[in-house]
Amino acid sequence: MSFVVAIDGPAAAGKGTISKAVAAHFGFAHLDTGLLYRAVGAKVIAGAEPIVAARALDPVDLENERLRTPAVAQAASEVAVIEEVRAALVAFQRSFAARADGAVLDGRDIGTVICPEADVKLFVTASAECRAERRFQELSDKGTDTTFETVLADVKQRDARDQSRAASPLIPADDAILLDTSDLTAAEAVAAAIKVVEAARS
Ligand code: DC
Repeated sequence: MSFVVAIDGPAAAGKGTISKAVAAHFGFAHLDTGLLYRAVGAKVIAGAEPIVAARALDPVDLENERLRTPAVAQAASEVAVIEEVRAALVAFQRSFAARADGAVLDGRDIGTVICPEADVKLFVTASAECRAERRFQELSDKGTDTTFETVLADVKQRDARDQSRAASPLIPADDAILLDTSDLTAAEAVAAAIKVVEAARS
């Protein structure tokens, strides 16, 4: 039987770092489900129709390095509002979660919609300012020309859209454990998440 860890939360809260580290620690597979929406968003920027792009999505599309730009993140958040786009991506996510070696899926609706029976549900948050600061550092390190104010506005706009959409909005599952990373280092956040998973496995 697969052991499923669902990690949800807003943009730049630390889900990616935590998910990768938890997967590595327990030997589980990891799926960053944001990449699915980013891959669809990138195809839409290139002229595709969102629902057609979602239905034709190939796992190879997820390996595109250019999915990490702010423009693609915005496009992802826009296509993620469309019910048929979300529906087209459900089967891939559920079959990934069924992997025998255990799986960590991170996104916005894993604990609520994709894997409501997950063994562990974590909702990772941090203040918008903290998240914008981290994302700004990341982008600056990569040489992207932007400002903190632009990144903060972008984070807030995506939060509002992700939380207010009718289809699978960003919301903690009733049985999710909240992890606020605002005052934690990455190492502390990872340690806290591993502790929660360890407790659920014993
Ligand atoms: O996690 P991320 O920043 O890569 O996600 C990009 C966008 O994709 C996000 O703003 C909303 C959408 N998304 C979603 O709606 N559901 C998911 N499970 C993952 C991402």
